[in-house]
Amino acid sequence: RFMPVLRSAFIALSRNSGLRSFSESSPIGQRLSSRFVAGLEIEDALRATETLNAQGIAATLDSLGENVENPDAARRSAEIYHQLLDAIRKRGLNANVSVKLTQMGLELNPDLASGITAELVGHAVQTDNFVRIDMEGSALTQATLDIVRGLHAGQSSTGPHAGHVGVVIQAYLYRSEKDICELIADGIRIRLCKGAYQEPAQVAFPSKADVDANFVRLMRILVRSGIYHGIATHDEAMIEATRQFVRERKIDPTSFEFQMLYGVRRDLQRALVDQGYRVRVYIPFGREWYPYFMRRLAERPANVLFLAKNFFKN
Ligand code: FDA
Repeated sequence: RFMPVLRSAFIALSRNSGLRSFSESSPIGQRLSSRFVAGLEIEDALRATETLNAQGIAATLDSLGENVENPDAARRSAEIYHQLLDAIRKRGLNANVSVKLTQMGLELNPDLASGITAELVGHAVQTDNFVRIDMEGSALTQATLDIVRGLHAGQSSTGPHAGHVGVVIQAYLYRSEKDICELIADGIRIRLCKGAYQEPAQVAFPSKADVDANFVRLMRILVRSGIYHGIATHDEAMIEATRQFVRERKIDPTSFEFQMLYGVRRDLQRALVDQGYRVRVYIPFGREWYPYFMRRLAERPANVLFLAKNFFKN
């Protein structure tokens, strides 16, 4: 009963701008966040990618930032992603990129965000790569899906790995099953996750049991769709449900990938690779790490103790 309170408290803190600017500029904050954030610079993210690639793990790179205040800031955010796509190509890394549309200006002007993101997807086409559009709060779900559909329609490839742009669906939303069916009909690749924002009971299942049940239902639709999707979770019950379903239905275990966050359950990441599954790790980096970091604490308030213990150990 205590956990939902802590969760809400961390989500509320994730939106506190005073604490944010204080933390992001403080060396102590940077040190604490380093468990979940690869570093401040592009180079840090590329180095983390090389380390994971050497262990047989793919990466998706997230230049941290959300809710930009003007079009120039949106263009600057996109520029980092253009640099990432070039660097991934140049170094032959097994990595793609994950982008938030609010970082590309969605809340300023959807056409601006769509245009900036279309350039990124165009660059991904040229570099034979892939842009994953992260999903944010429920007020933005429809706008995000509309933009992704438009971007995807602008391409011409078909097949399970087709397309250079995909999206994220959150199992906690009631609407997700319908969204998934529509996206699959369009051949769009999906990352399934539980959902990391605070949502009201009008739009999202309030209980973990219902979210988990929906996750399993949606996972089953995805892995038999013939399209290459991502199953993003650290929940062993969700992972086991996936493994079992894939075994029973004789689905090719390499026809989808598991995805996890940088610094979370590294033991599970490696175990899945050893079992022959594909694993991709989401690597966030950059100066604007505070909201991301607080959402990770909200998911598992025990992380605070964990971080504190390690902080004093080092
Ligand atoms: P759950 O929260 O039930 O946790 C199950 C178990 O996993 C815990 O008991 C613990 O052992 C471990 N665990 C989970 N989180 C942990 C943490 N932070 N630290 C340590 N252990 C942890 N969300 C979203 O809304 N939009 C998005 O675009 C994305 N993108 C995304 C990409 C990838 C690759 C992942 C893995 C996740 C996301 N998410 C996301 C976040 C997602 O919605 C969800 O909040 C977290 O993955 C936590 O949910 P779990 O499925 O791990 O289960």
